[in-house]
Amino acid sequence: MCGVKCITFALWINILSVITGENNFQLNLTPLNAVIHVGKDLELTCEVTNCKNNVDFVWKAALDQFLGGESESEKNVSRLLIRNISVKHSDTVVCKATCQGNQLQKMTKINMFSFPEDPILPKIKSLIANQEQELKCTVHNIYPLKSFQIQWLRGDKILREEEPDEATSDHVQSYSSVFNYTPSVNDLGKNISCKATLKIDTINQERTTTGEYGPGTITVSSNDTSVKLGEHLEITCHADGNPKPTIFWWKLGEAGPELQSQNHKLTINNATWSQTGCYLCKVSNDVGSQQMSVNVTVVGPPNIPKIQLSHREEPKEGESISILCSLDGGPAELKLYRQSQSNVTGDPKKSTVLLNISSIQITDAGIYICEAKNDFGIERSTINITVQAAQHDFWRKPDLPVVILPAVGSVSLLTAAVLLIRHCRKQAKSVSGNIPLD
Ligand SMILES: *[C@@H]1O[C@H](CO)[C@@H](O)[C@H](O)[C@H]1NC(C)=O
Ligand SMILES: *[C@@H]1O[C@H](CO)[C@@H](O)[C@H](O)[C@H]1NC(C)=O
Ligand SMILES: *[C@@H]1O[C@H](CO)[C@@H](O)[C@H](O)[C@H]1NC(C)=O
Ligand SMILES: *[C@@H]1O[C@H](CO)[C@@H](O)[C@H](O)[C@H]1NC(C)=O
Ligand SMILES: *[C@@H]1O[C@H](CO)[C@@H](O)[C@H](O)[C@H]1NC(C)=O
Ligand SMILES: *[C@@H]1O[C@H](CO)[C@@H](O)[C@H](O)[C@H]1NC(C)=O
Repeated sequence: MCGVKCITFALWINILSVITGENNFQLNLTPLNAVIHVGKDLELTCEVTNCKNNVDFVWKAALDQFLGGESESEKNVSRLLIRNISVKHSDTVVCKATCQGNQLQKMTKINMFSFPEDPILPKIKSLIANQEQELKCTVHNIYPLKSFQIQWLRGDKILREEEPDEATSDHVQSYSSVFNYTPSVNDLGKNISCKATLKIDTINQERTTTGEYGPGTITVSSNDTSVKLGEHLEITCHADGNPKPTIFWWKLGEAGPELQSQNHKLTINNATWSQTGCYLCKVSNDVGSQQMSVNVTVVGPPNIPKIQLSHREEPKEGESISILCSLDGGPAELKLYRQSQSNVTGDPKKSTVLLNISSIQITDAGIYICEAKNDFGIERSTINITVQAAQHDFWRKPDLPVVILPAVGSVSLLTAAVLLIRHCRKQAKSVSGNIPLD
Protein backbone atom coordinates (compact mmCIF):
# COMPACT_ATOMS: atom_id res chain seq x y z
CA MET A 1 0.00 0.00 0.00
CA CYS A 2 1.80 3.12 -1.15
CA GLY A 3 -1.06 5.42 -1.94
CA VAL A 4 -0.74 8.64 -3.87
CA LYS A 5 3.03 8.33 -4.52
CA CYS A 6 2.63 5.00 -6.29
CA ILE A 7 -0.13 6.27 -8.45
CA THR A 8 1.99 9.29 -9.48
CA PHE A 9 4.94 7.00 -10.29
CA ALA A 10 2.77 4.65 -12.35
CA LEU A 11 1.43 7.61 -14.32
CA TRP A 12 4.94 8.91 -15.04
CA ILE A 13 6.05 5.49 -16.33
CA ASN A 14 3.04 5.50 -18.63
CA ILE A 15 3.89 8.89 -20.08
CA LEU A 16 7.52 7.77 -20.67
CA SER A 17 6.41 4.70 -22.54
CA VAL A 18 4.16 6.86 -24.70
CA ILE A 19 7.13 9.11 -25.67
CA THR A 20 9.39 6.21 -26.65
CA GLY A 21 6.45 4.12 -27.65
CA GLU A 22 6.83 4.62 -31.36
CA ASN A 23 9.72 2.18 -31.65
CA ASN A 24 9.59 0.62 -28.16
CA PHE A 25 13.32 1.32 -27.93
CA GLN A 26 14.75 0.12 -24.58
CA LEU A 27 18.11 0.19 -22.84
CA ASN A 28 19.43 -2.22 -20.28
CA LEU A 29 22.63 -1.71 -18.29
CA THR A 30 24.09 -4.51 -16.16
CA PRO A 31 25.28 -4.97 -13.53
CA LEU A 32 23.65 -2.11 -11.65
CA ASN A 33 25.52 -0.74 -8.68
CA ALA A 34 28.28 -3.29 -8.85
CA VAL A 35 30.31 -3.80 -5.74
CA ILE A 36 33.73 -4.94 -6.76
CA HIS A 37 37.03 -5.60 -5.10
CA VAL A 38 39.92 -3.39 -6.08
CA GLY A 39 42.18 -5.18 -8.56
CA LYS A 40 39.42 -7.26 -10.13
CA ASP A 41 38.09 -6.86 -13.63
CA LEU A 42 34.63 -5.48 -14.25
CA GLU A 43 32.58 -5.88 -17.38
CA LEU A 44 29.54 -3.64 -17.94
CA THR A 45 26.99 -4.56 -20.57
CA CYS A 46 24.69 -2.09 -22.23
CA GLU A 47 22.01 -3.70 -24.39
CA VAL A 48 19.33 -2.17 -26.54
CA THR A 49 16.14 -3.91 -27.51
CA ASN A 50 13.67 -2.96 -30.18
CA CYS A 51 15.97 -0.89 -32.35
CA LYS A 52 15.86 -1.95 -35.97
CA ASN A 53 19.10 -0.28 -36.96
CA ASN A 54 22.59 -0.30 -35.54
CA VAL A 55 22.95 1.53 -32.30
CA ASP A 56 25.60 4.13 -31.43
CA PHE A 57 26.98 3.61 -27.95
CA VAL A 58 28.91 6.07 -25.83
CA TRP A 59 30.38 5.25 -22.44
CA LYS A 60 31.35 8.03 -20.10
CA ALA A 61 31.90 8.92 -16.50
CA ALA A 62 29.10 11.02 -15.08
CA LEU A 63 31.52 13.53 -13.60
CA ASP A 64 33.65 13.58 -16.71
CA GLN A 65 36.51 11.95 -14.89
CA PHE A 66 38.89 9.33 -16.10
CA LEU A 67 37.10 6.25 -17.19
CA GLY A 68 39.48 3.63 -18.34
CA GLY A 69 38.53 0.37 -19.94
CA GLU A 70 38.01 -0.96 -23.39
CA SER A 71 34.62 -0.86 -25.01
CA GLU A 72 33.45 -3.15 -27.74
CA SER A 73 30.17 -2.75 -29.53
CA GLU A 74 28.20 -4.97 -31.85
CA LYS A 75 24.81 -4.34 -33.39
CA ASN A 76 22.84 -3.61 -30.25
CA VAL A 77 25.21 -4.52 -27.45
CA SER A 78 28.21 -2.73 -26.03
CA ARG A 79 30.58 -4.04 -23.41
CA LEU A 80 32.95 -2.01 -21.30
CA LEU A 81 35.77 -3.98 -19.70
CA ILE A 82 37.73 -2.30 -16.94
CA ARG A 83 40.73 -4.37 -15.94
CA ASN A 84 42.44 -4.19 -12.57
CA ILE A 85 39.89 -1.79 -11.24
CA SER A 86 41.24 0.84 -8.89
CA VAL A 87 39.86 3.47 -6.60
CA LYS A 88 40.06 6.09 -9.35
CA HIS A 89 37.39 4.15 -11.23
CA SER A 90 34.94 4.75 -8.45
CA ASP A 91 32.28 6.71 -10.20
CA THR A 92 28.96 6.67 -11.91
CA VAL A 93 29.19 5.29 -15.41
CA VAL A 94 26.76 6.31 -18.09
CA CYS A 95 25.87 4.33 -21.17
CA LYS A 96 24.29 6.43 -23.90
CA ALA A 97 22.61 4.74 -26.85
CA THR A 98 21.30 6.42 -29.98
CA CYS A 99 18.84 4.64 -32.24
CA GLN A 100 17.48 6.42 -35.24
CA GLY A 101 18.00 9.79 -33.65
CA ASN A 102 16.43 8.73 -30.39
CA GLN A 103 18.68 8.78 -27.39
CA LEU A 104 18.48 6.86 -24.16
CA GLN A 105 20.92 6.66 -21.30
CA LYS A 106 21.36 4.61 -18.14
CA MET A 107 23.68 4.99 -15.22
CA THR A 108 25.31 2.59 -12.90
CA LYS A 109 27.54 3.18 -9.95
CA ILE A 110 30.75 1.27 -9.46
CA ASN A 111 31.42 0.64 -5.82
CA MET A 112 34.94 -0.38 -5.04
CA PHE A 113 36.17 -1.91 -1.88
CA SER A 114 39.34 -3.33 -0.61
CA PHE A 115 39.44 -5.60 2.36
CA PRO A 116 42.26 -7.96 2.36
CA GLU A 117 44.65 -9.64 4.74
CA ASP A 118 43.86 -10.52 8.32
CA PRO A 119 44.37 -7.86 10.97
CA ILE A 120 47.90 -7.88 12.35
CA LEU A 121 48.09 -8.30 16.09
CA PRO A 122 51.67 -8.69 17.36
CA LYS A 123 52.39 -11.29 20.03
CA ILE A 124 51.58 -10.07 23.51
CA LYS A 125 54.01 -10.95 26.30
CA SER A 126 51.24 -11.64 28.77
CA LEU A 127 47.89 -10.36 29.92
CA ILE A 128 47.77 -9.83 33.65
CA ALA A 129 44.66 -8.82 35.57
CA ASN A 130 44.55 -5.13 36.50
CA GLN A 131 47.71 -4.29 34.59
CA GLU A 132 47.24 -1.84 31.78
CA GLN A 133 49.07 -2.34 28.54
CA GLU A 134 49.03 -0.99 25.05
CA LEU A 135 47.78 -3.25 22.28
CA LYS A 136 47.89 -2.42 18.63
CA CYS A 137 46.02 -3.92 15.73
CA THR A 138 46.82 -2.96 12.15
CA VAL A 139 44.86 -3.63 8.99
CA HIS A 140 46.32 -2.91 5.58
CA ASN A 141 44.69 -2.18 2.22
CA ILE A 142 41.36 -0.86 3.33
CA TYR A 143 38.92 0.95 1.07
CA PRO A 144 36.82 2.86 1.77
CA LEU A 145 37.97 3.74 5.27
CA LYS A 146 34.66 5.38 6.10
CA SER A 147 32.96 1.99 5.98
CA PHE A 148 35.57 0.37 8.18
CA GLN A 149 35.33 -0.63 11.81
CA ILE A 150 37.62 -2.31 14.32
CA GLN A 151 36.47 -4.19 17.40
CA TRP A 152 38.54 -5.50 20.27
CA LEU A 153 37.06 -8.57 21.87
CA ARG A 154 37.82 -10.73 24.86
CA GLY A 155 35.93 -13.96 24.41
CA ASP A 156 32.57 -12.79 23.03
CA LYS A 157 32.60 -9.53 24.91
CA ILE A 158 33.30 -6.37 22.95
CA LEU A 159 35.88 -4.36 24.82
CA ARG A 160 36.11 -1.50 22.39
CA GLU A 161 34.68 -0.43 19.07
CA GLU A 162 36.40 2.02 16.81
CA GLU A 163 35.38 3.75 13.61
CA PRO A 164 37.94 5.92 11.85
CA ASP A 165 37.17 9.62 12.11
CA GLU A 166 38.39 10.71 8.74
CA ALA A 167 35.65 10.16 6.25
CA THR A 168 37.79 11.13 3.26
CA SER A 169 39.03 8.05 1.61
CA ASP A 170 40.33 8.40 -1.92
CA HIS A 171 42.88 5.66 -1.74
CA VAL A 172 43.51 2.24 -0.34
CA GLN A 173 45.04 2.68 3.06
CA SER A 174 46.07 1.12 6.36
CA TYR A 175 44.56 1.66 9.73
CA SER A 176 45.88 0.96 13.22
CA SER A 177 43.94 0.85 16.42
CA VAL A 178 45.80 1.43 19.66
CA PHE A 179 44.05 0.12 22.72
CA ASN A 180 45.11 0.63 26.32
CA TYR A 181 43.73 -2.49 27.86
CA THR A 182 43.45 -3.42 31.51
CA PRO A 183 42.29 -7.03 31.78
CA SER A 184 39.81 -7.84 34.50
CA VAL A 185 40.02 -11.01 36.53
CA ASN A 186 36.92 -12.36 34.78
CA ASP A 187 38.54 -11.97 31.38
CA LEU A 188 41.40 -14.32 32.13
CA GLY A 189 41.37 -17.51 30.09
CA LYS A 190 39.50 -15.94 27.18
CA ASN A 191 40.97 -15.15 23.82
CA ILE A 192 41.71 -11.59 22.90
CA SER A 193 40.96 -10.70 19.31
CA CYS A 194 40.88 -7.87 16.86
CA LYS A 195 37.99 -7.94 14.42
CA ALA A 196 37.95 -5.79 11.30
CA THR A 197 34.71 -5.18 9.48
CA LEU A 198 33.96 -3.41 6.21
CA LYS A 199 30.31 -2.64 5.54
CA ILE A 200 29.32 -1.47 2.09
CA ASP A 201 25.77 -1.89 0.90
CA THR A 202 24.96 -5.53 1.15
CA ILE A 203 28.53 -6.63 1.54
CA ASN A 204 29.60 -7.08 5.11
CA GLN A 205 33.05 -8.50 5.29
CA GLU A 206 34.92 -9.32 8.43
CA ARG A 207 38.23 -10.76 9.43
CA THR A 208 39.33 -11.63 12.94
CA THR A 209 42.78 -12.25 14.33
CA THR A 210 43.14 -13.89 17.71
CA GLY A 211 46.05 -12.59 19.73
CA GLU A 212 48.80 -14.89 20.89
CA TYR A 213 50.01 -14.17 24.38
CA GLY A 214 52.31 -15.75 26.88
CA PRO A 215 51.25 -17.11 30.23
CA GLY A 216 50.69 -14.36 32.78
CA THR A 217 49.53 -14.92 36.29
CA ILE A 218 49.83 -18.46 37.55
CA THR A 219 47.29 -19.57 40.08
CA VAL A 220 47.83 -22.65 42.17
CA SER A 221 45.23 -24.23 44.42
CA SER A 222 47.71 -23.87 47.27
CA ASN A 223 51.29 -22.64 47.42
CA ASP A 224 52.24 -23.73 50.91
CA THR A 225 50.69 -26.89 52.15
CA SER A 226 51.20 -29.97 54.24
CA VAL A 227 50.10 -33.56 53.82
CA LYS A 228 50.02 -36.31 56.41
CA LEU A 229 52.36 -39.23 55.98
CA GLY A 230 50.67 -41.86 53.82
CA GLU A 231 47.90 -39.56 52.70
CA HIS A 232 46.95 -38.05 49.36
CA LEU A 233 47.54 -34.52 48.09
CA GLU A 234 46.59 -32.83 44.86
CA ILE A 235 47.63 -29.35 43.79
CA THR A 236 46.47 -27.77 40.56
CA CYS A 237 48.13 -25.02 38.60
CA HIS A 238 46.49 -22.78 36.02
CA ALA A 239 47.66 -20.05 33.73
CA ASP A 240 46.11 -18.10 30.97
CA GLY A 241 47.67 -18.01 27.52
CA ASN A 242 47.13 -18.55 23.80
CA PRO A 243 48.13 -21.01 22.46
CA LYS A 244 47.03 -22.96 25.49
CA PRO A 245 50.16 -23.34 27.60
CA THR A 246 51.63 -26.68 28.53
CA ILE A 247 52.02 -27.22 32.25
CA PHE A 248 54.69 -29.35 33.91
CA TRP A 249 55.35 -29.97 37.56
CA TRP A 250 58.93 -30.37 38.76
CA LYS A 251 60.41 -31.12 42.13
CA LEU A 252 63.60 -29.32 43.03
CA GLY A 253 66.32 -31.59 44.29
CA GLU A 254 70.05 -31.62 44.86
CA ALA A 255 70.58 -33.61 41.67
CA GLY A 256 68.44 -31.21 39.64
CA PRO A 257 64.76 -30.89 38.96
CA GLU A 258 62.71 -34.08 38.72
CA LEU A 259 59.66 -34.23 36.49
CA GLN A 260 56.51 -34.97 38.48
CA SER A 261 53.65 -34.51 36.07
CA GLN A 262 52.98 -33.36 32.55
CA ASN A 263 49.72 -31.66 33.22
CA HIS A 264 48.21 -29.11 35.55
CA LYS A 265 47.85 -31.58 38.45
CA LEU A 266 50.50 -32.49 40.97
CA THR A 267 49.42 -35.64 42.76
CA ILE A 268 51.07 -37.16 45.79
CA ASN A 269 49.71 -40.55 46.76
CA ASN A 270 50.77 -42.19 50.00
CA ALA A 271 53.01 -39.30 51.03
CA THR A 272 56.49 -40.19 52.24
CA TRP A 273 58.98 -38.03 54.11
CA SER A 274 61.14 -37.60 51.02
CA GLN A 275 58.27 -35.90 49.23
CA THR A 276 58.66 -32.84 51.40
CA GLY A 277 60.15 -30.10 49.30
CA CYS A 278 59.80 -27.33 46.82
CA TYR A 279 57.75 -28.04 43.70
CA LEU A 280 57.67 -25.86 40.59
CA CYS A 281 54.77 -25.41 38.26
CA LYS A 282 56.21 -24.41 34.88
CA VAL A 283 53.86 -23.00 32.31
CA SER A 284 54.94 -22.24 28.77
CA ASN A 285 53.75 -21.66 25.25
CA ASP A 286 55.26 -20.28 22.01
CA VAL A 287 55.22 -16.77 23.40
CA GLY A 288 56.77 -17.23 26.83
CA SER A 289 56.97 -19.11 30.07
CA GLN A 290 56.35 -18.58 33.77
CA GLN A 291 56.80 -20.59 36.90
CA MET A 292 55.56 -20.68 40.46
CA SER A 293 56.92 -22.54 43.44
CA VAL A 294 54.91 -24.48 45.96
CA ASN A 295 56.15 -25.79 49.28
CA VAL A 296 54.92 -29.18 50.34
CA THR A 297 55.56 -30.46 53.83
CA VAL A 298 54.88 -34.03 54.80
CA VAL A 299 53.83 -34.24 58.44
CA GLY A 300 53.24 -37.11 60.81
CA PRO A 301 54.59 -38.76 63.96
CA PRO A 302 58.38 -39.01 63.88
CA ASN A 303 60.25 -42.16 62.91
CA ILE A 304 62.04 -44.06 65.66
CA PRO A 305 65.34 -42.23 66.22
CA LYS A 306 68.71 -44.03 66.31
CA ILE A 307 71.11 -43.94 69.23
CA GLN A 308 74.73 -45.07 68.84
CA LEU A 309 77.89 -45.13 70.92
CA SER A 310 81.26 -44.24 69.39
CA HIS A 311 82.77 -47.42 70.97
CA ARG A 312 81.97 -50.95 69.94
CA GLU A 313 83.00 -52.31 73.32
CA GLU A 314 82.27 -51.17 76.79
CA PRO A 315 84.24 -47.94 77.36
CA LYS A 316 86.87 -47.83 80.06
CA GLU A 317 86.95 -45.30 82.81
CA GLY A 318 88.78 -42.16 81.66
CA GLU A 319 88.19 -42.72 77.94
CA SER A 320 86.55 -40.15 75.74
CA ILE A 321 83.28 -41.19 74.18
CA SER A 322 80.49 -39.70 72.07
CA ILE A 323 76.85 -40.68 71.94
CA LEU A 324 75.05 -39.96 68.67
CA CYS A 325 71.32 -39.50 68.40
CA SER A 326 69.94 -39.21 64.86
CA LEU A 327 66.64 -39.17 63.01
CA ASP A 328 65.73 -39.57 59.42
CA GLY A 329 62.34 -38.74 58.09
CA GLY A 330 60.02 -35.97 59.04
CA PRO A 331 60.71 -32.94 61.14
CA ALA A 332 60.84 -33.44 64.89
CA GLU A 333 62.57 -31.98 67.88
CA LEU A 334 65.47 -34.25 68.81
CA LYS A 335 66.82 -34.51 72.37
CA LEU A 336 69.53 -36.61 73.97
CA TYR A 337 69.63 -37.02 77.74
CA ARG A 338 70.45 -39.39 80.54
CA GLN A 339 67.51 -41.08 82.19
CA SER A 340 66.20 -39.27 85.25
CA GLN A 341 68.41 -36.26 84.61
CA SER A 342 67.19 -32.95 83.39
CA ASN A 343 70.29 -31.98 81.36
CA VAL A 344 69.26 -32.11 77.77
CA THR A 345 71.27 -31.57 74.62
CA GLY A 346 69.85 -30.91 71.23
CA ASP A 347 69.09 -28.27 68.69
CA PRO A 348 65.48 -28.50 67.51
CA LYS A 349 66.52 -27.66 63.95
CA LYS A 350 69.08 -30.43 63.57
CA SER A 351 68.52 -34.04 62.71
CA THR A 352 71.46 -35.28 64.84
CA VAL A 353 72.57 -34.61 68.39
CA LEU A 354 76.02 -35.50 69.70
CA LEU A 355 76.98 -35.80 73.34
CA ASN A 356 80.75 -35.86 74.06
CA ILE A 357 82.10 -37.11 77.36
CA SER A 358 85.82 -36.37 77.39
CA SER A 359 86.70 -38.62 80.33
CA ILE A 360 84.00 -41.07 81.24
CA GLN A 361 83.54 -42.00 84.87
CA ILE A 362 81.80 -44.93 86.51
CA THR A 363 79.16 -42.46 87.62
CA ASP A 364 78.38 -41.61 83.99
CA ALA A 365 77.11 -45.14 83.39
CA GLY A 366 73.39 -45.53 82.89
CA ILE A 367 70.57 -45.31 80.41
CA TYR A 368 70.77 -42.59 77.74
CA ILE A 369 67.67 -41.64 75.80
CA CYS A 370 67.34 -40.22 72.31
CA GLU A 371 63.89 -38.70 71.85
CA ALA A 372 62.12 -37.38 68.73
CA LYS A 373 58.97 -35.36 69.29
CA ASN A 374 56.62 -33.29 67.17
CA ASP A 375 52.95 -32.30 67.16
CA PHE A 376 51.97 -35.74 65.91
CA GLY A 377 53.79 -37.97 68.37
CA ILE A 378 56.88 -38.97 70.25
CA GLU A 379 59.41 -41.81 69.73
CA ARG A 380 62.41 -42.82 71.82
CA SER A 381 65.50 -45.08 71.65
CA THR A 382 67.71 -45.93 74.63
CA ILE A 383 71.20 -47.24 75.21
CA ASN A 384 72.57 -48.75 78.43
CA ILE A 385 76.12 -47.50 78.88
CA THR A 386 78.33 -49.37 81.34
CA VAL A 387 81.86 -48.26 82.21
CA GLN A 388 84.77 -50.56 82.99
CA ALA A 389 86.63 -49.57 86.10
CA ALA A 390 90.32 -48.74 85.47
CA GLN A 391 91.94 -49.83 88.87
CA HIS A 392 92.23 -53.60 88.11
CA ASP A 393 94.41 -52.85 85.16
CA PHE A 394 96.80 -50.75 87.19
CA TRP A 395 97.94 -53.73 89.32
CA ARG A 396 98.03 -56.34 86.66
CA LYS A 397 100.48 -54.47 84.42
CA PRO A 398 102.57 -52.06 86.48
CA ASP A 399 104.22 -49.25 84.61
CA LEU A 400 108.05 -49.28 84.24
CA PRO A 401 108.99 -46.20 86.31
CA VAL A 402 107.06 -47.49 89.32
CA VAL A 403 109.07 -50.77 89.38
CA ILE A 404 112.46 -49.16 88.66
CA LEU A 405 112.28 -46.23 91.01
CA PRO A 406 112.09 -48.21 94.25
CA ALA A 407 114.99 -50.43 92.97
CA VAL A 408 117.16 -47.44 92.13
CA GLY A 409 116.27 -46.01 95.51
CA SER A 410 117.34 -49.13 97.45
CA VAL A 411 120.68 -49.38 95.60
CA SER A 412 121.61 -45.82 96.46
CA LEU A 413 120.50 -46.30 100.04
CA LEU A 414 122.85 -49.35 100.39
CA THR A 415 125.75 -47.42 98.88
CA ALA A 416 125.11 -44.55 101.26
CA ALA A 417 125.04 -46.89 104.23
CA VAL A 418 128.39 -48.51 103.24
CA LEU A 419 130.03 -45.11 102.75
CA LEU A 420 128.65 -43.90 106.07
CA ILE A 421 130.01 -46.96 107.92
CA ARG A 422 133.44 -46.52 106.35
CA HIS A 423 133.47 -42.86 107.25
CA CYS A 424 132.57 -43.61 110.83
CA ARG A 425 135.31 -46.16 111.14
CA LYS A 426 137.88 -43.67 109.79
CA GLN A 427 136.63 -41.08 112.22
CA ALA A 428 136.95 -43.54 115.07
CA LYS A 429 140.50 -44.36 114.02
CA SER A 430 141.59 -40.78 113.76
CA VAL A 431 139.90 -39.87 116.98
CA SER A 432 141.65 -42.70 118.64
CA GLY A 433 144.86 -41.56 116.83
CA ASN A 434 144.48 -37.99 117.90
CA ILE A 435 143.38 -38.53 121.36
CA PRO A 436 145.97 -40.38 123.35
CA LEU A 437 144.34 -42.86 125.55
CA ASP A 438 147.40 -43.54 127.57
C1 LIG B 1 46.73 -3.08 -10.78
O1 LIG B 1 46.85 -1.71 -10.52
C2 LIG B 1 47.74 -1.35 -9.47
C3 LIG B 1 47.69 0.16 -9.32
O2 LIG B 1 46.43 0.62 -9.32
C4 LIG B 1 49.13 -1.80 -9.84
O3 LIG B 1 49.99 -1.51 -8.79
C5 LIG B 1 49.11 -3.29 -10.11
O4 LIG B 1 50.38 -3.71 -10.50
C6 LIG B 1 48.09 -3.62 -11.16
N1 LIG B 1 48.00 -5.07 -11.28
C7 LIG B 1 47.99 -5.70 -12.43
C8 LIG B 1 47.89 -7.18 -12.39
O5 LIG B 1 48.08 -5.08 -13.48
C1 LIG C 1 41.56 -19.21 21.27
O1 LIG C 1 42.06 -19.12 19.98
C2 LIG C 1 42.73 -20.26 19.49
C3 LIG C 1 43.27 -19.94 18.14
O2 LIG C 1 44.16 -18.86 18.22
C4 LIG C 1 41.79 -21.44 19.48
O3 LIG C 1 42.48 -22.59 19.08
C5 LIG C 1 41.22 -21.63 20.87
O4 LIG C 1 40.28 -22.65 20.86
C6 LIG C 1 40.58 -20.37 21.38
N1 LIG C 1 40.23 -20.55 22.76
C7 LIG C 1 39.05 -20.23 23.23
C8 LIG C 1 38.85 -20.43 24.70
O5 LIG C 1 38.19 -19.78 22.53
C1 LIG D 1 51.45 -17.86 48.19
O1 LIG D 1 50.15 -17.40 48.08
C2 LIG D 1 49.86 -16.24 48.85
C3 LIG D 1 48.42 -15.91 48.69
O2 LIG D 1 47.72 -16.92 48.08
C4 LIG D 1 50.75 -15.08 48.39
O3 LIG D 1 50.52 -13.97 49.20
C5 LIG D 1 52.18 -15.49 48.48
O4 LIG D 1 53.01 -14.49 47.97
C6 LIG D 1 52.41 -16.78 47.72
N1 LIG D 1 53.77 -17.21 47.95
C7 LIG D 1 54.60 -17.49 46.96
C8 LIG D 1 55.96 -17.97 47.33
O5 LIG D 1 54.28 -17.38 45.79
C1 LIG E 1 52.72 -46.40 51.40
O1 LIG E 1 54.13 -46.36 51.43
C2 LIG E 1 54.71 -47.16 52.41
C3 LIG E 1 56.20 -46.90 52.42
O2 LIG E 1 56.71 -46.70 51.16
C4 LIG E 1 54.36 -48.62 52.10
O3 LIG E 1 54.90 -49.43 53.09
C5 LIG E 1 52.85 -48.75 52.07
O4 LIG E 1 52.50 -50.07 51.70
C6 LIG E 1 52.24 -47.79 51.08
N1 LIG E 1 50.79 -47.84 51.18
C7 LIG E 1 50.02 -47.87 50.13
C8 LIG E 1 48.57 -47.88 50.40
O5 LIG E 1 50.47 -47.85 49.01
C1 LIG F 1 82.11 -33.78 69.96
O1 LIG F 1 83.27 -34.29 69.33
C2 LIG F 1 83.29 -34.21 67.91
C3 LIG F 1 84.58 -34.86 67.44
O2 LIG F 1 84.79 -36.06 68.06
C4 LIG F 1 83.21 -32.78 67.49
O3 LIG F 1 83.14 -32.69 66.08
C5 LIG F 1 81.96 -32.13 68.08
O4 LIG F 1 81.92 -30.76 67.77
C6 LIG F 1 81.92 -32.32 69.58
N1 LIG F 1 80.67 -31.83 70.06
C7 LIG F 1 80.54 -31.09 71.15
C8 LIG F 1 79.14 -30.70 71.50
O5 LIG F 1 81.50 -30.77 71.83
C1 LIG G 1 72.56 -51.93 82.14
O1 LIG G 1 73.55 -52.94 82.00
C2 LIG G 1 74.05 -53.39 83.21
C3 LIG G 1 75.20 -54.36 82.94
O2 LIG G 1 74.93 -55.17 81.85
C4 LIG G 1 72.94 -54.09 84.00
O3 LIG G 1 73.41 -54.50 85.22
C5 LIG G 1 71.82 -53.08 84.21
O4 LIG G 1 70.74 -53.70 84.85
C6 LIG G 1 71.40 -52.52 82.93
N1 LIG G 1 70.40 -51.51 83.20
C7 LIG G 1 69.21 -51.54 82.69
C8 LIG G 1 68.28 -50.45 83.11
O5 LIG G 1 68.90 -52.42 81.90
